[in-house]
Amino acid sequence: MGRCVVVLLLLGLGGAVCGRWQEEFLRLGSEGGGTRWGVLVAGSKGFYNYRHQADVCHAYQIMRKGGLNDDNIVVMMYDDIASHPDNPRPGTIINHPSGPDVYAGVPKDYTRKDVTVNNFLAVLLGNRSALTGAGSGKVVSSGPNDHVFVYYADHGGPGVLSMPGPAEGEYLYANDLVQALKKKHAAGAYKSLVMYVEACESGSIFEGLLPTDIAVYATTASNADESSWGTYCPGDDHGAPPPEFDTCLGDLYSVAWMEDADAHQDGRRGETLQQQYRSVKNRTSDAGTYFLGSHVMQYGDMSLSPQSLHLYYMDTPAAASRADDAAAAIPASVSVNQRDADLLYLWRKYMRAAPEKKVEARERLLQEMGRRSRVDSSVELVEGLIFSSGKEKEEKKAKAGQAVVEDWECLKSMVRTFEARCGSLGQYGMKHMRSFANICNAGVSHHAMATAASLACPPHL
Ligand SMILES: *[C@@H]1O[C@H](CO)[C@@H](O)[C@H](O)[C@H]1NC(C)=O
Ligand SMILES: *[C@@H]1O[C@H](CO)[C@@H](O)[C@H](O)[C@H]1NC(C)=O
Repeated sequence: MGRCVVVLLLLGLGGAVCGRWQEEFLRLGSEGGGTRWGVLVAGSKGFYNYRHQADVCHAYQIMRKGGLNDDNIVVMMYDDIASHPDNPRPGTIINHPSGPDVYAGVPKDYTRKDVTVNNFLAVLLGNRSALTGAGSGKVVSSGPNDHVFVYYADHGGPGVLSMPGPAEGEYLYANDLVQALKKKHAAGAYKSLVMYVEACESGSIFEGLLPTDIAVYATTASNADESSWGTYCPGDDHGAPPPEFDTCLGDLYSVAWMEDADAHQDGRRGETLQQQYRSVKNRTSDAGTYFLGSHVMQYGDMSLSPQSLHLYYMDTPAAASRADDAAAAIPASVSVNQRDADLLYLWRKYMRAAPEKKVEARERLLQEMGRRSRVDSSVELVEGLIFSSGKEKEEKKAKAGQAVVEDWECLKSMVRTFEARCGSLGQYGMKHMRSFANICNAGVSHHAMATAASLACPPHL
């Protein structure tokens, strides 16, 4: 027996080699391997973003079913969905057209204005004294034998993730996240850490930034240059939500990993990180066309990828029940670009509005469209003003293995300077982050940026 376990450890493989010893090994992995921790973050608010909080609630149910205690799961979500006046099923949240309520029992560790960048990093780092506001105070106070799983779902842009925070326009910059991971590793505060990220351009959070030697393995919904996708969206015969929902119920990559997890919780052979990555990559690719899908990526310490999911959030096969496997049959579903999902929602609200509400609904849709085109044109104008003066503009696409920007402080302050004049980029405008990065990479001065922004967005008279 001893030799078999050693061989498995060396190879990092389950497989059929050792038959029943595999289960022994998996049990050792999850019981002898310290505590398992989960951090689940939905970075958005608003009913048109229903799907992100639905994803996070579903992830919580998976972790509970996987045997984690509430003491070891920290949930950060705005919590405005279940009780939202637009919710056709008050007090509940679903993540699949025919799925169960995933909201029941979800702890409200950090909600509303306490879902901030600062609190997320404090939770991750296990630093209670860095918390602000009125959350539960729960943090990941993990030790050197512990395994940590972090899952984030929301909007993003090149090099940034969004947080609902006290006001729109709070960004978690990739560099600050990776610094926090390095700090936690240096403090000996985990054995290994896995992070799953659903957001547009989520590959840019780790590309060229995440070291391979800090025992962190990450997968992302998309590469550094493309949108990620909402799924179970209104408007299709297959996989559409119940008709009373005007909003998408989930995100494609998120639903892919969670339904894969649900399907494996039923007591079949355990699954590894690598196997889940392959299965999620396949489903998220829109049958290999990438037409309504994105490229799922993996980053960091690849030597962790043969690890069993039991180390993080799944129950051991022996202990798992064979009960409810809601997701065994995965229906075809309609997917919508993350950034267009709120337009789809506003459009449907308008189409379905009662006659006396039509004008108001139309106004909201037009307002959002107007806001978007104002952001687009002011960024374009700023770029034009800056780069017309002879500065070479860099290629707009990501270079493989390179971070979005070298000087993150420059990126932050360029964004602040722009926003001071032109207003918040917001969850839509984050897509322009690479333009600001290029401005930094080209060595443009802050003075030039301030001048361009004040020309592009003159003060109202
Ligand atoms: C925890 O956060 C506080 C407040 O931000 C900070 O002063 C302190 O250095 C942090 N502790 C650790 C161990 O990083
Ligand atoms: C990939 O996905 C397609 C459809 O989504 C499925 O039919 C196929 O079996 C999958 N392939 C693998 C290797 O999982």
